[in-house]
Amino acid sequence: MVNAYLDVGIQSRMNRIINPKDNRVVMLAIDHPYFQGPTTGLRNMSNTIRTLFPHCDCLMTTRGAVRANIAPEALGSKPIMLRVSGGNSVLFDDLSDEQLTVSIEEAIRMDAAGVAVSVFVGARNQQQTILNLTDMINAAEEYGIPVLAVTAVGKDMARDLRYLALASRICQDAGARIIKTYYCEEFAKLVDWVAPTAVVVAGGKYSSPPDALKMAYDSVQAGAVGVDFGRNIFQDDNPIGMIKAIGAIVHGNHTVKEALDVYNAHTPQASRLE
Ligand code: 5RP
Repeated sequence: MVNAYLDVGIQSRMNRIINPKDNRVVMLAIDHPYFQGPTTGLRNMSNTIRTLFPHCDCLMTTRGAVRANIAPEALGSKPIMLRVSGGNSVLFDDLSDEQLTVSIEEAIRMDAAGVAVSVFVGARNQQQTILNLTDMINAAEEYGIPVLAVTAVGKDMARDLRYLALASRICQDAGARIIKTYYCEEFAKLVDWVAPTAVVVAGGKYSSPPDALKMAYDSVQAGAVGVDFGRNIFQDDNPIGMIKAIGAIVHGNHTVKEALDVYNAHTPQASRLE
C-alpha cells in the first residue's frame, strides 16, 4: 500500500543503503586516512577499493577517496556513505575537534546515498560535534539525504552499554537515520533503546577472523541491521574471504563456524593489501 506520508527521498536512499528485502547491510568503512593518513591496508587505496568494492553493499568513504580511488566505470554501482566531518589528525591528542568538511550540495553532486558525521560525546568538543550532526541533518533532510551518526570513542572513553547507549540516543534525538556504534555487552538493549533507528556496528582495531566474525554475528543477533567494518576486513590476510564471510552472517544468517568455512573456502590473494 502506498504511504502518502512517507519521506520518499529518504526512504529511497535508505533502501539503497540497507537492503529492504532483509533489512541488512554490509557497509565497508574505508575512511580512515581522513585522520590516520596512510593506514595499513589503505596505502594503495585504489587497489583496496577495487578488491573489496564488489563485495560490499555500501562503501563508507571520503570525498577525496571517491574522486581518487573509485574507477569511473564503477561509480554508481554501489551506494556511497560519504564522510562529511573531520579536520583533525592522530598527531593531536584530542580527536574530538572536528567540523563539517563537505557541504550537502557537494554530497548531492557526488551522488552520495547518505552522509556520515562523527560525534564525540563526553569529549572536550562534545557540543561542537553534536551541532555538526544537527547542522548536517537540517541541511541533508531538506534534500532527502539520510545522515549516519558515528559515535566516535576517544582513547579514554569506555565502550560499555552506559556510554554507547548515551551517545547513540543523543544521535537518534538529533535525527540521525542510522547510528554507527561499537559492540558491547547487552548490546540488544542499546538497539532496543534506539529502535526503530537502524544500528550498524564498527569493527575497531584488527583482531582475528573468529573474533571479528563473532562480533558481526552477535551484533545482528542483537538486532543491528549489519556492520560497518574496516580494518578487520582490509587488514586481514584474506580480505575477500573475510567480507564474504561477513556477508554470509549478515545476509545469510550463517553461524560463526559456517562463516569461517566461507572464509576458508576463499583462497587468499598472493599478498596482503598494502
Ligand atoms: C571512525 C570511523 C571509521 O570508519 C570506523 O570506525 C573504522 O572502521 P573500523 O574501526 O572497523 O576499522 O567511523 O570514527
